[in-house]
Amino acid sequence: MDLSITVNGITFPNPFLLGSGPPGTNARVIAKSYDAGWGGAVAKTISLESAKVVNVVPRYGKLRSRTSGEVIGFENIELISDRPIDVWLEEFRQVKKDYPKHILIASIMEEYEKSRWQELTRMVQDTGVDAFELNFSCPHGMTERRMGSEMGEHPDLCEEVTSWVTEVSNIPVWAKMTPNITNIKEPSLAAVRGGAVGISAINTILSVIGVDLNTLRPMPTVEGHTVPGGYSSQAVRPIALRMVSQLALGLPQDVSISGIGGIENSHDALEFFLLGSSTVQLCTGVMLHGVKMIDELKEGLEKFMVDKGFNSVQEIVGKSLGYFSTLMDQVHKMKAAKRTKAGEASRDNEWAQKDITEKTAELTSN
Ligand SMILES: Cc1cc2nc3c(=O)[nH]c(=O)nc-3n(C[C@H](O)[C@H](O)[C@H](O)COP(=O)(O)O)c2cc1C
Repeated sequence: MDLSITVNGITFPNPFLLGSGPPGTNARVIAKSYDAGWGGAVAKTISLESAKVVNVVPRYGKLRSRTSGEVIGFENIELISDRPIDVWLEEFRQVKKDYPKHILIASIMEEYEKSRWQELTRMVQDTGVDAFELNFSCPHGMTERRMGSEMGEHPDLCEEVTSWVTEVSNIPVWAKMTPNITNIKEPSLAAVRGGAVGISAINTILSVIGVDLNTLRPMPTVEGHTVPGGYSSQAVRPIALRMVSQLALGLPQDVSISGIGGIENSHDALEFFLLGSSTVQLCTGVMLHGVKMIDELKEGLEKFMVDKGFNSVQEIVGKSLGYFSTLMDQVHKMKAAKRTKAGEASRDNEWAQKDITEKTAELTSN
């Protein structure tokens, strides 16, 4: 069955992408995911100077179900890629040469300086990647250098930085937004004003995964101390779905949405398509379950399309958006339904209480 979808002029073999993070940490793992059947990958975020990026260990923390032990929430304090830009450029070239039909999206991030953003954009675009994803959303670490969500929390910065990139880019530009903000539509619309044709949402939610009751240290603990990190995995999915639906209802129709947050199977992914995502990205799910999960994702999507009579993935996109309303409207609808029901009941009563001949006479004109 054809699961392809064309988004911003790019044809994805299927709508399932690796999200930026460990699943797209180098060319080898990206190639492996394409071999496994993924439609595309957003590589780990890169910047001009990898030497400035120093990751700590441990940098992950898990929240488990009290009953089954299953991981339902995941915190990370990981930064962007610490691999040199030259290595990345060579790998992007190689991946596009070996897998011309698979989609490769470069996630980029820089300090608040036009020349840096434009230099990075030019260098990366020369490798033949299919699109850019601007990381306006990493919630920890990079913010100390005014990068990541430090930009995504300020619509004016989102617009300005996006316009720097689109000024020199000739491939589609998506902006990846932070959920750590009251109204995700505002910075997203600003990025669109700056020339973004797609919005990716959501990045991680600021969190503290727990406190060790023996040592009294909040976790994850590095040399006795912690910083709040980014929360992902199943627990964030309802928040991501809400934000994706708000974007789908509030952005111009031609802006695409790549849905992210807590997706682990085809059921989860379908919810994102129905609420307006044309593609979906998985990060923590792949870290926990491996790239083979693509088999179930594709099989589940195919089965749904057959069962419900959809001929293309595009037909599913946004299909459930019409069912959002306001509380006031729901109250009106409920009252109207009650009145109709009451009307039907009283008619039934009348028929039951009267003799049929009497009722016939009542309804006859002559
Ligand atoms: C360990 C880890 C590292 C991540 N690194 C990046 C990154 O470099 N760039 C980025 O845009 N998002 C990064 N993310 C965020 C994910 O791409 C994704 O937006 C988020 O985790 C929610 O999706 P999920 O529940 O499928 O993981 C990272 C997430 C995790 C868990």
